[in-house]
Amino acid sequence: MSAAAEAVVERELTGSASSSLKGDLEVPGDKSMSHRALILGGMASGETRVRGLLEGDDVLHTADAVRALGAEVERLGPGEWRLRGADWKGPAAPVDCGNSGTGARLLMGAVAGYPIEVTFTGDTSLSKRPMARVLDPLREMGANADGSTLPVTIRGGELHGTSFVNQKASAQVKSAILLAGLRAQGEVEVIEPRASRDHTENMLRAFGCEVETDRERIRLGSNRTLAGTSVEIPGDPSSAAFPIVAALIVSDSEVRIRNVMTNPLRTGLLKTLIEMGADIRLENARTHGGEAVADVVARSSKLRGVEVPADRAPSMIDEYPILAVAAALAEGRSLMHGLAELRVKESDRLAAVIAGLRACGVHAGEEGDTLIVEGCGGPPPGQAHVIAHDDHRIAMSFLVMGLASQGPVSVDSADMIATSFPTFVPLMRSLGAEIQ
Ligand code: S3P
Repeated sequence: MSAAAEAVVERELTGSASSSLKGDLEVPGDKSMSHRALILGGMASGETRVRGLLEGDDVLHTADAVRALGAEVERLGPGEWRLRGADWKGPAAPVDCGNSGTGARLLMGAVAGYPIEVTFTGDTSLSKRPMARVLDPLREMGANADGSTLPVTIRGGELHGTSFVNQKASAQVKSAILLAGLRAQGEVEVIEPRASRDHTENMLRAFGCEVETDRERIRLGSNRTLAGTSVEIPGDPSSAAFPIVAALIVSDSEVRIRNVMTNPLRTGLLKTLIEMGADIRLENARTHGGEAVADVVARSSKLRGVEVPADRAPSMIDEYPILAVAAALAEGRSLMHGLAELRVKESDRLAAVIAGLRACGVHAGEEGDTLIVEGCGGPPPGQAHVIAHDDHRIAMSFLVMGLASQGPVSVDSADMIATSFPTFVPLMRSLGAEIQ
């Protein structure tokens, strides 16, 4: 087979009816925390050790960026990294953020505090995603930035404070402002309509920076210096979502996923699945590296349709594609409200999910920002070829759909799975999933 033909075969994967998923596994480290550990470690004085870093493409782009900005970044072993922070300098070449919105937006905030010029680029998907949500508040703080989509050049330094009221709950926007604020003069605060994931605040505190949180209002204190520290990263709940839902919808299954982060701002999916009747238990709840973690045990379950309120979206924003798969197997209709942000993720996820479900023979549609899924009350027809639009979470969701459908479900572009969950295919196969 020619190299080109092989590449095509690797891109396409198929999930087929699987009889029983059994096993005990760990998923890779949390992606949000991994980006933050590299950025804060790269800005801090002294040495930072990171354990459990996600070595997916998104995070590796951030590691390269932090190195290009002047920090020492070294891989010691699987998931184990050492950084020595530096005063950031202008890199010799543009910073390529690959597919990662989190990497791009957080790095833009961080560089804005330094008197340097940095150009950011990304892949085709990232180059279409909106950056004004971060660039506008950074401009308001005194940074210079051109454009509203990548490539973008930022000239930072001499920032002043801000009291930024965001209309959307966005951890990326909040984090960009806080990271810029580390080197700004004056008060820096962000007010959100609903609390978004708080990993930046938690990790800033671990690096010695003062941060006050009063419900949806987050403010930097006067001590904003960062000192290198040790960071332990638990399993990513957004990756654990795939084997959890697979265990629920494939008959005769029981899967244990150890060391999953259960920060309450990330557990909207688990809450929703339990409302649907899922047999999910959290065991061995503890704290690991400053975050709540537990082992999640999921067993085959008879699911019923659910209505998910809009105010739950920030705690499960990346989990709607896989929730839609669970909803397709459930008995009755599911409604998921407040999903406008899904249109500007790695793909238009609302459109991609609806098209994929319809290809699998499931009735689905949208009304405003609400996703509607008519559950089949059992295995959907499947026998479909789904376009993943180079979106890792769409690809993984429909491969899981194939495991519990009557006919196989193939996805056209599975290689992007490496951005967030590079071990997805071998781990799912180790449970007994038919993915070829
Ligand atoms: C993330 C925040 C979310 C999420 C993304 C990771 C983060 O994006 O979708 O995958 O690490 O801060 P928004 O801030 O756009 O909601």
